[in-house]
Amino acid sequence: MRDADGFGRHPAHNRENGSFRTRAPGPESSSGERSRLSPQLLAQSRPEAGDFCQTRRVFGALIRIDSVTKRYPDGTVAVDRLSLEIPDRAITVLVGPSGCGKTTTLRMINRMVEPSEGTILLDGKDIQQQPVNTLRRSMGYVIQNAGLFQHRTILDNIATVPRLLGWGKERSRARARELMDRVGLDGTLARRYPYQLSGGQQQRVGVARALAADPPVLLMDEPFSAVDPVVRKGLQDELLRIQEELAKTIVFVTHDIDEAVKLGTMVAVMRTGGRLAQFAPPAELLTDPADAFVEDFLGTDRGIRRLSFFTAAGLDLLTAPIVAVDATAEQIAARDTADVPYLLVTDLDGRPLGWAESGELTAGSIETDRLLPHGRPFAAGTDSLRAALDCAVLSPTGWAVAVDGEGRAAGVVSQQTIAEAIRGAHANSARTTQKVAP
Ligand SMILES: Nc1ncnc2c1ncn2[C@@H]1O[C@H](COP(=O)(O)OP(=O)(O)O)[C@@H](O)[C@H]1O
Ligand SMILES: [Mg+2]
Repeated sequence: MRDADGFGRHPAHNRENGSFRTRAPGPESSSGERSRLSPQLLAQSRPEAGDFCQTRRVFGALIRIDSVTKRYPDGTVAVDRLSLEIPDRAITVLVGPSGCGKTTTLRMINRMVEPSEGTILLDGKDIQQQPVNTLRRSMGYVIQNAGLFQHRTILDNIATVPRLLGWGKERSRARARELMDRVGLDGTLARRYPYQLSGGQQQRVGVARALAADPPVLLMDEPFSAVDPVVRKGLQDELLRIQEELAKTIVFVTHDIDEAVKLGTMVAVMRTGGRLAQFAPPAELLTDPADAFVEDFLGTDRGIRRLSFFTAAGLDLLTAPIVAVDATAEQIAARDTADVPYLLVTDLDGRPLGWAESGELTAGSIETDRLLPHGRPFAAGTDSLRAALDCAVLSPTGWAVAVDGEGRAAGVVSQQTIAEAIRGAHANSARTTQKVAP
């Protein structure tokens, strides 16, 4: 048990199984809101195939930043008595306005910058006591604009560290090809040069290069800040997917609070002057900002955004108001209940077609093009309350349609029922935000 080494229990620590909460990417919901609620990984040991786990420790790394200050020679205090416990096999995000000391903090972890005061421990060992090369070998580093070697092919860029480690050309390239696949890069790009790739592709190469020697720690400094929002979202989803497979200890720097909330298992909000404002799981940050600075930094809609941490799986779905397009008069009459002012019409496979007002349907002559649009459905088992609410708000009837994995209507739910579920989720939030999905 990790407590034995004196690190104490972490706020994100799960009491039941002694592991840190983490999040893996879930299926994309119809409203574009990624599900927050997917199996956690940390209890699982995930040994890698082949030789690439040589540098991997079974339990990964845990970084402890202990009252660290960085004063640059000109007197600038970039980081001021910062203390953080960075959980292993999870994404910890450092977020804050420009100049608040994020990059300096990250660079102190791999000793590109040396602290003026304080200590940083990796797996309980002072990093000052470790040879810099050994330390850096255990830490992949990804920066904005990828920082690729322009005169090397994509394959050789990715193979850089294995080559430095003396792996030999063929083995290094084989590893590089494996990594290209892992980060979602087409193999045909292997022989190209960085300038022949888009910004998003270059960032993927940067991530692949950082992962090449399978380091337990990944340091990422605003890696996705320079690409457009659509590409950035793709890169974020990819990082979450990769993290689900690899379970690295990732320290991720960004100035974008939405990115922090999306990616972070833990989020450290820093303020100008290199001071820590709050260190908490994202749901807790949104619920309970430590002060006006954090609240302001989180921006508007934090109540709505927080709903993405609560599952819609418990919503009470009604199936009574669902009729197939070939329904008989008796079936329509039976479905037409006073509780729901609308009927949801589905095709013969059960996929939603649209809403009809109660009493409007005539058996045998349902005109599907006259139905009210059903809006975007949400995924009954995997989506969040935010996705469900979004569906209900966008629906012309105020009722949201839930679908199963095959897109068949699983039930309908009113705004009012969703609002009740939200109240219930708030009441249980202390438990729920720490809960690990089965
Ligand atoms: N080499 C340096 N010498 C002097 N001041 C620096 C140096 N590097 C960074 N700073 C200053 O330290 C502060 C924190 O910088 P940085 O860590 O880069 O912040 P962030 O990454 O959050 O934007 C800023 O005021 C910056 O100007
Ligand atoms: Mg920076």
